[in-house]
Amino acid sequence: MSVIENSKVAIVGAGSVGTAIAYASLIRRSARTIALYDVNRAKVDAEVLDLQHGALYTGSSQIIGGADPSVVAGAHLVIITAGAKQDPGQTRIDLAGTNVKILEQMLPVLMQHAPDAVYMLVTNPCDVLTVAAQQITGLPEERVMASGTVLDTSRLRQLLATRAGVAPHSVHADIIGEHGDTEFALWSQARIGPVPILDWVPSSTAADQRPFAHRELDEITDRVRNAAYTVIAGKGATNYAIGVSATRIVEAVLTDENAVLPVSIVHRGHHGVDGVALSLPSIVNSRGVARVLDVRMSAHEERQLHASAEALRKVQQDLGI
Ligand code: 2OP
Repeated sequence: MSVIENSKVAIVGAGSVGTAIAYASLIRRSARTIALYDVNRAKVDAEVLDLQHGALYTGSSQIIGGADPSVVAGAHLVIITAGAKQDPGQTRIDLAGTNVKILEQMLPVLMQHAPDAVYMLVTNPCDVLTVAAQQITGLPEERVMASGTVLDTSRLRQLLATRAGVAPHSVHADIIGEHGDTEFALWSQARIGPVPILDWVPSSTAADQRPFAHRELDEITDRVRNAAYTVIAGKGATNYAIGVSATRIVEAVLTDENAVLPVSIVHRGHHGVDGVALSLPSIVNSRGVARVLDVRMSAHEERQLHASAEALRKVQQDLGI
C-alpha cells in the first residue's frame, strides 16, 4: 500500500485504546510517523519506548511521543482516545459530560499544533463528542469524524462470515447509526458475495445448514450491539478490535483512498438527519469525509435511523451542545 510521503498520524491518549491503534498502525506500516501524546509523561514515554523496541521487526515507521502537545505538529490525522472510559455497568452515553469537558480543554491546544489535520474521535460517546469537537474547533463537518460503527461493522461481518463459512471480506453488510445502543444493521442491503443475505444457501460442508431467517438476523444485531458490554465485563475494556478498526481509517486518510467506511460526521440533512453525528457509509480520503452515500433503506430502517438520531439529539440537548 502506498502511503502519503511523510504521512503522520498523532494519537492522543496512551491508554489501552491509543496504544492498540499505535501498535496496529506500526505493524501494518500505515504511517511514516506515529506520534503518541498523553499528559502522563511516565506512561507515554514508557509506551513509546516499548513500541520503539520492536523496530527491527516492524519496518521503517517512526514512533515518537511524549507529554508535550507539540508532538502532534504536522499530523495529517489526529485521533482522540483520551478521556473517561466505560466501566462495567456503564453505557457509552454515561461518559458524555466528562469527556466533553476534556475536549473543551484539549482541542484548542491540539488545534494550535495541528490546525490542518483531519480529526477523529474514538473516545466515547464518539458521535456526541464529534458534535462537540466540531463546535469547539469550528472545522468543516467533513474534517471531524468519529470511528463510529466501523468497529461494529467488523463485529457484524465476523459473525456473518463464521456462520456462512466465507471470509469476512466477502460479507457486505453494515452497522449504521449511533456507535452504541441504538445502532442497527442495514439488512436490506446485506449480501454475501453478490447474494442477498436471505437468499444465501449454506454449502454442504457448513456446520449450520439452515438459511438465514429474520429472527436469526435480529439475534446477530443484538450480539453486535452487546459485544462491547460482553468484552468489558470480562477484561474491563475493549482495545484490540478498535485498534485495527481505527487503523483501517488511518489508512483510508493517509493513502487518500476514497474507501467506503461507516464513519460518523455531523450531518446536514442526509436522510433527514440534521445537527447530529452518526454513522452512514461514507467515502473517506485525505480530506476526511469526501461524501456521505445515499443508501437505499427500508421504511423500518429509516425509522431506526431517525430513532438513533433522536436518541443522540436528546443527549446533546441535555449537554447543551
Ligand atoms: C467498543 O465498542 C467500547 O466503544 C467501544 O468496543
